[in-house]
Amino acid sequence: MYLAAIDRYQRMSYARCGRSGLQLPRISLGLWQNFGKDASFENAREMVLKSFDAGITHFDLANNYGPPPGSAEENFGRILATDLAAHRDELIVSTKAGYLMWPGPYGEWGSRKYLLASLDQSLKRMGLDYVDIFYSHRHDPETPPEETMIALDAAVRSGRALYVGISSYGPEQTRAAAAILRELKTPFVLHQPSYSMLNRWVENGLLDVLEQEGVGCIAFSPLAQGLLTTKYLHGVPAASRASQDGSFQKTMLSERNLRHVSSLNEIAQQRGQSLAQMALAWVLRKPAITSALIGASHWSQIEQCLAALKNLKFTQDELRKIDQYAVDSDLNIWAPRGVDGR
Ligand SMILES: NC(=O)c1ccc[n+]([C@@H]2O[C@H](COP(=O)([O-])OP(=O)(O)OC[C@H]3O[C@@H](n4cnc5c(N)ncnc54)[C@H](OP(=O)(O)O)[C@@H]3O)[C@@H](O)[C@H]2O)c1
Repeated sequence: MYLAAIDRYQRMSYARCGRSGLQLPRISLGLWQNFGKDASFENAREMVLKSFDAGITHFDLANNYGPPPGSAEENFGRILATDLAAHRDELIVSTKAGYLMWPGPYGEWGSRKYLLASLDQSLKRMGLDYVDIFYSHRHDPETPPEETMIALDAAVRSGRALYVGISSYGPEQTRAAAAILRELKTPFVLHQPSYSMLNRWVENGLLDVLEQEGVGCIAFSPLAQGLLTTKYLHGVPAASRASQDGSFQKTMLSERNLRHVSSLNEIAQQRGQSLAQMALAWVLRKPAITSALIGASHWSQIEQCLAALKNLKFTQDELRKIDQYAVDSDLNIWAPRGVDGR
């Protein structure tokens, strides 16, 4: 039987989502990959439970996480129903709808029809009455923003979600969404964009909008899917994300990117951190960033990432050096769309 660590809240620090009442752990765990039916359930369970023991209260899902799509929610539901049943009120569970989930015109994007049907399916898969945060996973250029936002609001009013968020919306799309949600008095607490040393599109207006609107920011893929670790410096290890067909585009392993990663690693070593730890500290250095949303394939990776919280401070000299190696990366192609639905 699982017994949660008694000191879990001493092991983590928490930050407020913008000007809301909701706090999130500075490091959150995403279940996009390695938690579906194709992965080891026992390994996934170990990652979730040890994370909770370390004070990670926030677990991020989406309708399409797996593979196959939906199976990460099913597996997480199993863990919730058994090990974490007594801790539901200590957890922030999020899910999203936006990418392709079922065939036909109501299985993706931003219509009310799709969003609310998808949320019902997610709740069923996870065995939950409500999620803590329900997101529009991507901006839909063809659906009026009012319709998408009113659907998010309906999720809250009907008791299926406590808060709402948006993901990968650009600055102007975010401003428009915030205006509608403010008028509706919907608790809009969080934006989820990609952000890392190699992918800085959010610094081009989005973070300013979020600060003005009082909305939090949870940065996804802060390790650039593993590129901002040392794992690819000497080739592609078996079973790594880059070794599989899927989200990790091989162009990310260009000679130039790897040269930059190697130089960034030297800076990290001088700081007494691993490259992964420096990458997380770098994302978290900005007050606008509520949480860094990591993925993992083993608990040992999460454990190493958590130690980043011991040093979040950078000297001006370090920041300048990092900028030398971490600009003009072709990873900016991730903005402003997400990558997990492709
Ligand atoms: N909203 C969206 O559109 C969107 C899009 C993408 C992701 N997300 C969310 O963000 C979460 C995180 O995304 P991500 O998985 O791309 O994040 P990430 O943290 O940038 O990459 C995670 C990968 O990095 C490697 N890694 C992690 N810690 C490591 C360590 N200490 N040492 C060496 N390697 C390490 C692992 O790769 P290996 O698997 O190769 O071991 C792991 O799977 C997702 O689960 C999801 O919740 C959202």
